[in-house]
This record gives sequence, C-alpha cells and structure tokens, in this order.
Amino acid sequence: MGITKNQSRVGDDKEETNLSDECKEMLLSLPREKGWRTTFLYEFQGFWCQPTEIQAIMSFQKHFQACDTDVVLATIPKSGTTWLKALAFAIVNRNRFPINNDYKNHDLHPLLTSNPHDLVPFLEYKLYSKNQLPDLSKLGHPRIFGTHIPFPSLANSVKKSNSKIVYLCRNPFDTFVSSWIYINKIRPTSLPELTLDEAFDRYCKGIIGFGPFWEHMLGYWKESIEKPNKVLFLKYEDLKDDTCFHLKRLAKFLDSAFSFEEERDGVIEKIVKLCSFENLKELEVNKNGRSIKHFENKNLFRKAEVGDWVNYLSPKMADKLSKLVDEKLRGSGLKFKVFT
Ligand code: A3P
Repeated sequence: MGITKNQSRVGDDKEETNLSDECKEMLLSLPREKGWRTTFLYEFQGFWCQPTEIQAIMSFQKHFQACDTDVVLATIPKSGTTWLKALAFAIVNRNRFPINNDYKNHDLHPLLTSNPHDLVPFLEYKLYSKNQLPDLSKLGHPRIFGTHIPFPSLANSVKKSNSKIVYLCRNPFDTFVSSWIYINKIRPTSLPELTLDEAFDRYCKGIIGFGPFWEHMLGYWKESIEKPNKVLFLKYEDLKDDTCFHLKRLAKFLDSAFSFEEERDGVIEKIVKLCSFENLKELEVNKNGRSIKHFENKNLFRKAEVGDWVNYLSPKMADKLSKLVDEKLRGSGLKFKVFT
C-alpha cells in the first residue's frame, strides 16, 4: 500500500516545503497514498493526513495543556463542524453575548460578523499550525476548540483532564458526497479534478483526511459509552430532526443548562435560528469572507440536507458503502438510518 523509504519523497509537494526537520524526517518513514487536495496523504498514528497537519498535531500533542473547563468539538471533515461550532459558541457565551434576534441594535452577536471557525479555532489548522506555539493565556474561559484529530491522538491532557468533548457524527453517505464536492471546489488548480469514482474508491479504503471514517467515529463512540460525562456523541441527522431537543442536551452536558426563564423566553429557539444554515449562509462574512487556511467561507455552506447522497451515488455504490458500514460498525451499537 505505502511507498518505501526514499529521500526524494519529501519536498515534492508545496505543502511539504515549510516543514520542520523533525517532521520531514518522520514523513520518510510513513506510508503514503494519493491525497484528495494535496499530492499525498500520509498514514500517521493510524490515520491519514497531510504533512502540515502532522506537524501541527505533533506540536499540539507535545505542548497543549487542557484546562478542566475546556470544551473540544470533534468531527471528521464535512460532518457539520461549522454548525456545531456555532451552536456551542452561542450556548457557552450567551451571558456575554445575549442571543437577540432583533439585530437592529449596534451590539451584533459575534456569529453575525464572524465565521464560526474564527470564533472557535481549530487546534491543528489554526493554533498549532505553521510551526507556531499559540499564546492561549488570553482566551476567555471556558475555552472552546475545534479538531478533526481522532480520539486516540488527542493530547494526553485533553483525555486526562475534566475537559469535555463533543463529537458530531454524520452518516458516511452524505459526508462522502459533501467531502467530494468541497474538495473539488478548494483543490489547487495544479491538481486534476477528483472524479466521483476515484474519490469513492479511496473513501471506501479509508483513505481520506483523518480517516478511515469508521475508526474516527468508533474512537469517539466507544469513549462516549465508557465515559458519558466526558464525551457527548451527537448525530447530524438527529440534530437536524430536532435541533431544540439536542441543543438542550448539549447545554446540559456543557454544564450550561437552560434555565426555566430562558426556556420560557425562547432562548433555545433563538439560538437555533441564529445558527441555522439559512441564517449563517446569507451573512456577508460567510458569503465573501475567508477563514480556515484562507479558503472561501461560502464553500462551507452548500445544501445542508440529509439524504442528498441519492443524487450522486449509483445503486451499486450505495450497496458497497452500505455493506462496508455494516461490516465496520457491526457489534458497536452505532447505526445510521440511511435508507428510508
Ligand atoms: P453539505 O455539503 O451536505 O451541504 P463542515 O462544517 O464539517 O465542513 O460540514 C459541512 C456540511 O455542513 C455541509 O453539508 C454544509 O452545507 C453543512 N452545514 C453548514 N452549516 C450548517 C448549519 N448551520 N446547519 C446545518 N448544516 C450546515
């Protein structure tokens, strides 16, 4: 599967040119495969990722010190990260930034002027990227971070502290389609378009950023069963189905339960509306701004539908993915209702 050790391997990808010597050395020993939006993905600590991500993850693992009040929002890409960040930010900061749907006043809620990724930074794309050590001392508490890193590779202090982890999972069918469309929008023009067949083949082999997707889900799933006070496992489809209900669960889990007065005053519904796809998508910052790695924010908001995969996957592909998901998740208790 991987390519054997070979000096010429490093430095042939733009992504690899500014890496530390330690990271370059590490890459030499790792199996690699064709990437989705970079030339290669490397198998690092049992999952697939890009060189710059490996460097950032190594730095995060070495330096990050979790606080007991920290909140880590974990997802595999394209499973609703932006939405989860918006919801958690709005809940946790609602005393500092009251939720007011009457936006005629001057004090606009930060979610109206900033993309959720700028309010809840990624550990690996933002804070520990580019070989830098972030100064986290100025962040208000509770601190909220986002990550795509699989559970076993989180910094030890995250696992050992009383910090909380929220995992948002999405059915692999829609996640795959969302990933494929997104990658083709943001991949450099130097790389050819990724065909649906090629992407699907790699996805089913587990070769996708932070994949295999089944390992990613199962890592957090098992931890959420063993330590329900530590990891809250949410599903995108459930959140779409009854956002208010799951928002209450989320707030309670984050030790920030809604009071009777807040419920009576419709605070939950206001948060749902503020963070809704329809609202966020139309904001100037999300139409014309750039956040993660300077990618255009507008690409983060596509359709936000459950079941859109039927418009892309052939019956043969759906059958193959369905069997794969059944096989990989068998016995775990984790299930998706994909076919209605
Ligand atoms: P689709 O491509 O299926 O439309 P991520 O945030 O992890 O990158 O996930 C992106 C997916 O979440 C996209 O799915 C996007 O449209 C959807 N999404 C973005 N904002 C959302 C929101 N506020 N509510 C629900 N879904 C949202």
